[in-house]
Amino acid sequence: MSRDPHTTKILMVCLGNICRSPLAEGILKSKLPETGFVVDSAGTGNYHVGDSPDPRSITTAKKYGLDITTQRGRQFTVSDFDTFDFIYVMDSSNFENVVKLARNANDIAKVHYILNEIYPNQNHSVPDPYTGGIQGFENTFKMLDEACTNLAMKLVN
Ligand code: 4NP
Repeated sequence: MSRDPHTTKILMVCLGNICRSPLAEGILKSKLPETGFVVDSAGTGNYHVGDSPDPRSITTAKKYGLDITTQRGRQFTVSDFDTFDFIYVMDSSNFENVVKLARNANDIAKVHYILNEIYPNQNHSVPDPYTGGIQGFENTFKMLDEACTNLAMKLVN
């Protein structure tokens, strides 16, 4: 995919691409116009390539009216730096893993912490809910919903 100057492309990144970044993708998509924007997600790991989102992410999204069931896991690749304008990571280990693959300063400049949309420059992490219960997914949803509200406002204006 090459970059279209009329379309803004945003990539959400976590570790497995089954819990946090699928929620972030679904939430941001729901807040942006359908034309002019592409939102995708990927994981730095390859454990869940081709998998559906975690059932707890699907359930939580559904509770708030979002259908993320058609998403499938994929691994972040260096070509994503060419495809996407903005790359949003969930935590510091995602940040390190993505930046490790950067080829130059331009690539690095595309990588941002999603929670900096709420708490600028603080580099807070969205905790990984994978090993916990459903409440962790609810917390993840709330954090991402607030961050994506702010981000969508910025992207649209
Ligand atoms: P995610 O959560 O990074 O939010 O998708 C995880 C899902 C799976 C694994 C780790 C984190 N895993 O190790 O399989």
